Amino acid sequence: MKKILTKFEHFQYFYPYTVAIVGAKFGEKINFMSAAWHTPLSFSPPLFGVLISKKRFSHYIISNAKEFTANFLPFNKVKISAQMGRKTGKEIDKIKAFKINLLPSKVISSPILEDSYVALECKLIEIRTYGDHDLFVGEVVAVHHDEEAFKENGVLNTKKVKPLLYLGSDMYITTDAKTLKHMLPD
Ligand SMILES: Cc1cc2nc3c(=O)[nH]c(=O)nc-3n(C[C@H](O)[C@H](O)[C@H](O)COP(=O)(O)O)c2cc1C
Repeated sequence: MKKILTKFEHFQYFYPYTVAIVGAKFGEKINFMSAAWHTPLSFSPPLFGVLISKKRFSHYIISNAKEFTANFLPFNKVKISAQMGRKTGKEIDKIKAFKINLLPSKVISSPILEDSYVALECKLIEIRTYGDHDLFVGEVVAVHHDEEAFKENGVLNTKKVKPLLYLGSDMYITTDAKTLKHMLPD
């Protein structure tokens, strides 16, 4: 029997989700936060969305920078997700405090994270409020990816990279390459 809730505090029973470390540089300030609520929105133009609560320092930084990068980390860098996702840039400089290595972007001014196997450079084109989160829509203007992390068809090589997946409540998990299946309909 399935349990049915019509009153609930959350509905994230569909997790796991990959974690995007999103952030930007505004003036001299660089700040990143963890975001599980992110999504591609369009191939053409290439659009990527991330949902950010108004409470986050990143909300202020990204809306002013008018650009952001979204960085995807391998499972062995899980600590960075906890650091970016449980501490606020309102109180500490997370980049300095946690010794995060940055690399310059190609098109925009905000940096990417060196530890990411994929990083998207995005120019902010719209912010739209949905309830208690704001959807930040970015046009993807550059994509960085580790060549050895992907197969020729662009699919993640799960023998080489273990993606970081978030289960909620500070719990993380990754994939097992042995479960890989190529499936087509009959
Ligand atoms: C794994 C993980 C995923 C998260 N996903 C989101 C998210 O999608 N949107 C959001 O607003 N906050 C999310 N958070 C919370 C922020 O990352 C957290 O509040 C962070 O400390 C904000 O930092 P800032 O104040 O420096 O921006 C997430 C936290 C964790 C640990």
